[in-house]
This record gives sequence, structure tokens and C-alpha cells, in this order.
Amino acid sequence: MDVPVAATALRQRNLLGIADLSPGEIVLVLDTAEAMKEVGRRAIKKVPTLRGRTVVNLFFEPSTRTRTSFEIAEKRLSADTLNVAIGTSSVVKGETLVDTAMNIEAMSPSMIVLRHASSGACHLLARICKAAIINAGDGMHEHPTQALLDAFTIRERKGRIGGLKVAIVGDLLHSRVLRSNLLLLTKLGAEVWVCGPATLIPPGLDRLGVRVTTRVDEAVEGADVVMMLRIQLERMEGGYFPSLREYFTTFGMTDARLGRAKPDVIIMHPGPINRGVEIASEVADGPYSVILDQVSNGVAVRMAVLYLLAGGADDETVA
Ligand code: CP
Repeated sequence: MDVPVAATALRQRNLLGIADLSPGEIVLVLDTAEAMKEVGRRAIKKVPTLRGRTVVNLFFEPSTRTRTSFEIAEKRLSADTLNVAIGTSSVVKGETLVDTAMNIEAMSPSMIVLRHASSGACHLLARICKAAIINAGDGMHEHPTQALLDAFTIRERKGRIGGLKVAIVGDLLHSRVLRSNLLLLTKLGAEVWVCGPATLIPPGLDRLGVRVTTRVDEAVEGADVVMMLRIQLERMEGGYFPSLREYFTTFGMTDARLGRAKPDVIIMHPGPINRGVEIASEVADGPYSVILDQVSNGVAVRMAVLYLLAGGADDETVA
């Protein structure tokens, strides 16, 4: 059965970051994801679009949402998928990222979905691999498919992105989700506020066209969208704040704080959630939360990215 979309391909061979996408290309991905979401509502959730293509999922860091939704997306598009288990691969014997990738490349995959702790790892592989590289999160740099699924979810709920007030609160310093979202939301004309402890605000954020504050009430006031970011304890060596309890008291999202936002606010979180640290359970599980919608939409958005990188409607295998 056909994918019901008349899309053109993206200009680039790889998806390394939102930085490389024009506003028109971002909208193309979101529009294509709408059609892919329709495939997910069918009884048989499968189209032959990537039949005969092999996609390798290469995750050097833990993942639940991104890895599983890429795999489901690949299967729904009929690709042959392979998950490399890093813990039982020759990486544990000291094989480098480049050697690992070159050996996988020798088996002629069409695409490699890479998550790696080093910022720029995807750019490195894109220079040496014939396979298309999709960034599934590289260090503190970018997580482009997360920002695309976030934008898809906002547009689905609000009908637009331009002109909305989006407050992003949390660990701004270590977040690749923040970087990709800032690039995307400002490209599409949102008014973006960012908020966190001064120790977790990277220098230069104000030069990216966003408002920066350490006062969470100011960020949330009148917001259409509140996006909470995880406190990334695994990337913190020093003490960025006195205690998790104090962090929650000062920055954690509660029903009372959310009351300052617009009455139809949506609350987002890329996951995994630290309940009682950056967000109260009453908010995460409450009526304004779209956190699980973000996860559902991740499949459609990743299908769209895979489809468009494979050539979109210009590709002879799209049938
Ligand atoms: N949002 C996100 O990247 O979650 P995972 O780490 O579980 O993939």
C-alpha cells in the first residue's frame, strides 16, 4: 500500500542536526510525518517503502524511546533492521568508532542511526561512510529527531509553532535536546524562553535569539508550551546545585507553577523523567501533559526522516 504523501527529498544525504535544515525542510518532515502517522492507524501498519534497504542502529549510549521508535519506524517501512549490541560487540575489546563503522559499512547498509557520547561523532561518520548517517543524539551537540517530534507534537496540539511562547526549563548546559529545539523553534518563529540555575546556563544562549532567565515563574508566565529538560546527573561531575530537593523546590514543575501558563498550556518532556526532581508526578501524569504523545509521534517522525533521506517521492523503491 502506498505512503499517502507527495513529498520531495531533503537536500542532504544525512540528518546530522537541525542546523542543516531550512524552515521549509522542517515543515516537509512534519507534513510527511502526518502521512506516516496515518500508516500507524491502519490495521496492517506496514508499507513497502524501504524494502531491500538495510538500516543499522548503532547506539553507544543507553536509550529507550529513540532506539525502539527508530526500530519500529524501520520495520513499518519494511527495512531490514539490525541493532548492534555495543556491550557484546568488539567495542569492548577496544575497537574504535571509526573502525566499527567501517566494518559495518563494508556490509553495505543504506543507513546508520548513531547515538554516541561524543559531540560530532555523526559528522565524523558522515565524512567516511557511504551509508546515510542519522544523528540519534551526539554528546551535548544535537538530537534532531527529538526536536522534530517535539515540533510535530506542538503543531498537532496548537495548529502552529510561529508566535507561540515556549518555555524550556531545566539542565540547559548538558542538553542536546535544548540545542536542537532552540534551532528548530526559532527557525519556525516561536518566542523561546529558557530557564535554569545560573550554573546550568551555557554562555551565549542570549545570542541565539532566545530569552534567558533564572526565574521559572517569569519563563512560565503566559506560556503556550512548557518543556522540561532532564537533570543529566550522568554528565555532571561537580555540584551544580545544592541538592535535588532544593532543585525541585526552585525549578521543579508543579501544578501551582503551571498555573501561571496559558489555560490550554501543554507540558512536554523528552524523557526519561526524574519524577520529583524536574517535574512533579501530578504534572507529568496530569491533563496538560503530552509526554506520551511525544513518544507516539516519535515513530511517525522517524518514519518521515527515513523516507525522505531514502529519496522521498523521487525514490524508485517507493511503491
Ligand atoms: N528522549 C530520548 O532521547 O530518550 P531515550 O534516551 O530513551 O532515547
